[in-house]
Amino acid sequence: MNQTIAFIQREILKEKPEQASLGFGKYFTDYMFVMDYDVEKGWHDARITPYEPITLDPSAMVFHYGQAIFEGMKAYKAADGTIQMFRPEKNMKRLNDSCDRLCIPQIDEEFLLTAIKQLVLTEKDWVPNEEGTSLYIRPFIFSTEPYLGVRPSHQYKLLVILSPSGAYYGDQLSPVKIYVEEQYVRAVIGGVGHVKTAGNYAASLKAQEKAESNGYAQILWLDAKENKYVEEVGSMNIFFKINGEVLTPKLNGSILPGVTRDSVIELLKYWNVPVREARISIEEVYSAHERGELEEVFGAGTAAVISPVGGLNWNGRAITINDNQIGKLSQRIYDEMIAIQLGKKADPFNWTVKIAQVEV
Ligand code: COI
Repeated sequence: MNQTIAFIQREILKEKPEQASLGFGKYFTDYMFVMDYDVEKGWHDARITPYEPITLDPSAMVFHYGQAIFEGMKAYKAADGTIQMFRPEKNMKRLNDSCDRLCIPQIDEEFLLTAIKQLVLTEKDWVPNEEGTSLYIRPFIFSTEPYLGVRPSHQYKLLVILSPSGAYYGDQLSPVKIYVEEQYVRAVIGGVGHVKTAGNYAASLKAQEKAESNGYAQILWLDAKENKYVEEVGSMNIFFKINGEVLTPKLNGSILPGVTRDSVIELLKYWNVPVREARISIEEVYSAHERGELEEVFGAGTAAVISPVGGLNWNGRAITINDNQIGKLSQRIYDEMIAIQLGKKADPFNWTVKIAQVEV
């Protein structure tokens, strides 16, 4: 893609929030990246522009038929003062997989990554450096054509916004309690569960509310057909350590192929810790618990990083995992992952991508 990225300066910069109270996804930086698509020009008019509200026609197709996809990535202030990202090419690839499934035109992955790096560089002073913080990057695409017939839109907008953030769940490594959902389902094979489309999250809200009203932080989804096999949690993939072996649901077409999920598997293989992608029934998890073999459960995701699970409730059967304490392996994976992401430890996998040299 032979495009330049225009820069539109803003007059007054915002005040930056205190790092200690960032939370997740509450603050947004001064600039955003925008690019438009129409059938004649393809993706065009790439620009870094002041972060501000956008105007859309009430008949814009996204409001009616939901062609909307997104990604989640992070930029970190590394120990040596540089800014780095974590496996960003995997997010670019997954964005295109989402485009494909939702009939949205493909993007040039290399170009978008260059644009994201340029945006992050523009906003380098917004990259927080306190423990547990990062600059969360949210690329997203939606249909904009004003039209009410059901078919793929002929016009789209791609935006990238940045949000300096802390932990997704209040306190990063505090174990969370998870509700195993039996009434509602997240995705079916052949559907859109394996891509990152906004509707997947809309469809999860009812169950999420139910879980929260019962005192649980998130939902563990079961397969839609038999209501038997574990799929994923609301905002992350899931891992079980049973009798020394780590198990995670095998990608089957309805589970999101998480970048952190993949990294955890690679890391465990590198450490020679037994790890297996498998079809795991919830019954099997509970039996392992009864035998005293369910050693640890943790979630893994970009926003959540590694999130220990301290309790599960399936059909009224509440169990406590590892005394509601952070498991040794969960802690080790978290420490290693963060150390690699922050450039505090060697990166034998070449996962990190440096994007700028800045003052420490
Ligand atoms: C991420 O981990 O980046 C996600 O997209 C999960 C999100 C819904 C908070």
